[in-house]
Amino acid sequence: MRTVLLTGARGMLAQEVMAQRPGSVHVIETDVEELDITNAAAVEAFCERHAPDAVINCAAYTAVDEAERERERAFAINAAGPRNLAVVCAARGVPFMHVSTDFVFQGDGTHLLREDDPPAPRGVYAESKRAGELYIEAIGGAWMVVRTSWLYAAHHENFVRTILRVAAARGELQVVNDQRGSPTYAADLAEAVWRLLGCGARGYVHFCNRGVCSWYEFAVEIVRLAQGYGVLPADREITITPCATEEFPRPAPRPRFSAMDTRRYTELTGAVVRSWQEALDTCIATLAAQRG
Ligand SMILES: NC(=O)c1ccc[n+]([C@@H]2O[C@H](COP(=O)([O-])OP(=O)(O)OC[C@H]3O[C@@H](n4cnc5c(N)ncnc54)[C@H](OP(=O)(O)O)[C@@H]3O)[C@@H](O)[C@H]2O)c1
Repeated sequence: MRTVLLTGARGMLAQEVMAQRPGSVHVIETDVEELDITNAAAVEAFCERHAPDAVINCAAYTAVDEAERERERAFAINAAGPRNLAVVCAARGVPFMHVSTDFVFQGDGTHLLREDDPPAPRGVYAESKRAGELYIEAIGGAWMVVRTSWLYAAHHENFVRTILRVAAARGELQVVNDQRGSPTYAADLAEAVWRLLGCGARGYVHFCNRGVCSWYEFAVEIVRLAQGYGVLPADREITITPCATEEFPRPAPRPRFSAMDTRRYTELTGAVVRSWQEALDTCIATLAAQRG
């Protein structure tokens, strides 16, 4: 594997995929201006010209609530986009790595979701992501779909940075305590993506950091670590109050429980997944170092 095409390269996960690329791999970075994945002819022409040895698709429509009123756009990017890439990869015989979501599950159970649990997406974003998965399955070839959840990083808009911003501005937060899942540090997922590509894995693979929490518990830990690392003032009183989903009605439904089982990832790669608390510690330490 010498040349890898990366789509959606300015996104949160893609930035980490770039940062963690193996030294021997040349990554062709593209975002929508260089390669719009919804344009089948453009995807084919780009791959003909650059002949990548593998494709990693980080391009996506990720605005979960806005998707409810932008169905066509969400399906173009999350379903037709990966279909276009899968068609070209299958025709050229190169591996195709796609990223999907815990939202493809209904989330009304209590067990860690496995790759063969039946998806039942609710809401436009979730449906569009599942449609992308189904296209890839149907097209075949050397495909892999990594499902992940509750993604965050020290950069880009995400839950961790929102909590830090609101805590700094207001000192008081209300956070949902009846949705449970597994936070995933984008840097850890990026490492997993390269490992999986390197070991030639195929099919669905679940990757999230180990352990389960609610958004409220996640927020409490974010603030605790941020005060410890001096990202938030240690002497500032910050009150976080748990609340129910119904108190914060949103356009798109969310799974109540969507933590995933990562045993297949460990079987395939031999790598141990660290806990969400350890990963979050690294993220907050990184933010502290950046603010230096
Ligand atoms: N974020 C989460 O909490 C989460 C959770 C579970 C799974 N995931 C999945 O993880 C993957 C990465 O998510 P992320 O949060 O890193 O996404 P992100 O930050 O929103 O990045 C997606 C990138 O794709 C670009 N893009 C949009 N339409 C495109 C097109 N037609 N052609 C090429 N590029 C296009 C976006 O550009 P614009 O910004 O200009 O639109 C953006 O740079 C996605 O598949 C997502 O579904 C995310």
